[in-house]
Order: sequence, then structure tokens, then C-alpha cells
Amino acid sequence: MPGSDDKKRIVDRRRKRHRRTDDRRSGADRRLVDKGRSDGDRRSRAERRIGQRRAGDRRNDAAWQPIALEAAADGGYDDAALVAAAVDAREHARARFSGFKVGAALETAKGEVVTGCNVENATYGLTMCAERVALYKALSDGRDIFTRIAVVADTEDPTPPCGSCRQLLWEYCGDIEVILSNLSEVKRRLRLSQLLPLPFDARLLE
Ligand code: THU
Repeated sequence: MPGSDDKKRIVDRRRKRHRRTDDRRSGADRRLVDKGRSDGDRRSRAERRIGQRRAGDRRNDAAWQPIALEAAADGGYDDAALVAAAVDAREHARARFSGFKVGAALETAKGEVVTGCNVENATYGLTMCAERVALYKALSDGRDIFTRIAVVADTEDPTPPCGSCRQLLWEYCGDIEVILSNLSEVKRRLRLSQLLPLPFDARLLE
């Protein structure tokens, strides 16, 4: 007959086994679980080996310059109005599945502003990003020369356009300025070629 210590050990082992098999997800999905670790330590073992958290690295980058929205208006940058248009557009986001609302404002060479927000759907895969909604709206209205795009999300780190948006923006807008902002400050300002350094485009098909 096992003693009470042995019984406890058997029960603990069963519990552990149960915990292991309960979660059938793998890889990155598993890491989404809040295991009660501190923010800085919520990474996989492989990521921890690489060294500093990536957001930390970005903060060390000389180009990483948060600019308060009011300062963006005063400081020679005329970003505040474009960002404000993206903030307003973000309110219309249809993001019930991710809860992640994004707004975009695309400026034309004539100074017009065309906005977009993300539109999600129940099968997920048809979701359209805010940047492409703004771009398609502008193109379908006959606008064809663009200068800047502002992208706004409610995040501490900048929210850059996804790969598909970078490609489409490159093909239809060229090397425009990209302003990444949250609801209170411009987090980063860069050119599209910095986000898509070796693009594939129509020139290669000629
Ligand atoms: N999303 C955008 O609209 N733009 C971005 O730059 C990043 C991601 C949307 C797509 C989806 O509706 C949600 O954010 C979560 O990925």
C-alpha cells in the first residue's frame, strides 16, 4: 500500500500529465497563454537565448523617435492632421474577432486625405487591413499619386503595415512616408522602402 506521501506524488504526477495533454495547441499559439511570467520573460526558450527582447532592441535604434501629437504639428512635421484622420477612421473598424482596431489615412499629392479601417469577417481569411481599405478607396475614386500614409492602433509599440499592405502600397504609392502612431503620439516615421527594402514590382516584369 502506498503511504500518503507516495499518494500525493502520484496525484501530482497525474495533474502534471493532465496539464500537459489538456492544451493541444503548439508553438506560438501555446505561448499566448499567460503563464504568470513577467513581461520580459514571456518568451520561448529559443527567443530568450537570442538575447534582448525585440521591442527593447527597437527602442535602442536611433531612428526610434516618439513624437507627441501636438509636437508633431509644431515641430516641422505636419503629421498631426493626417494622424487625427486615421484616429477617427479607426473608430469605424469592424474588428469583432481580433478586437484590434486600426485606422489609416492616405494623403494624395493634391493634399486630399482618404481614410480606411480594418474590416474583419467570420471566416477570418477575408479580413482587409485598414491600409488597403484606404488604398482601394483612393484608387477607385481615381486618385493616383500619394505622398504619405498614417497608420494608427492603440498599441505602445508602433503597428507597421503587414507584408501584403507593404507590397500593395509600394506598387501603387511608391516610396511614400509612413507615419506609425498610437492614440497619443507618433511612434515612428519612415519611408516605405525601409519597410520593404528589396521589392518585387512591375519593373521586373518588363
Ligand atoms: N491590421 C491592419 O488593419 N493593419 C495593420 O497594419 C496590421 C493589422 C488588422 C488586420 C486584422 O483585422 C487585425 O488588425 C489583427 O491583425
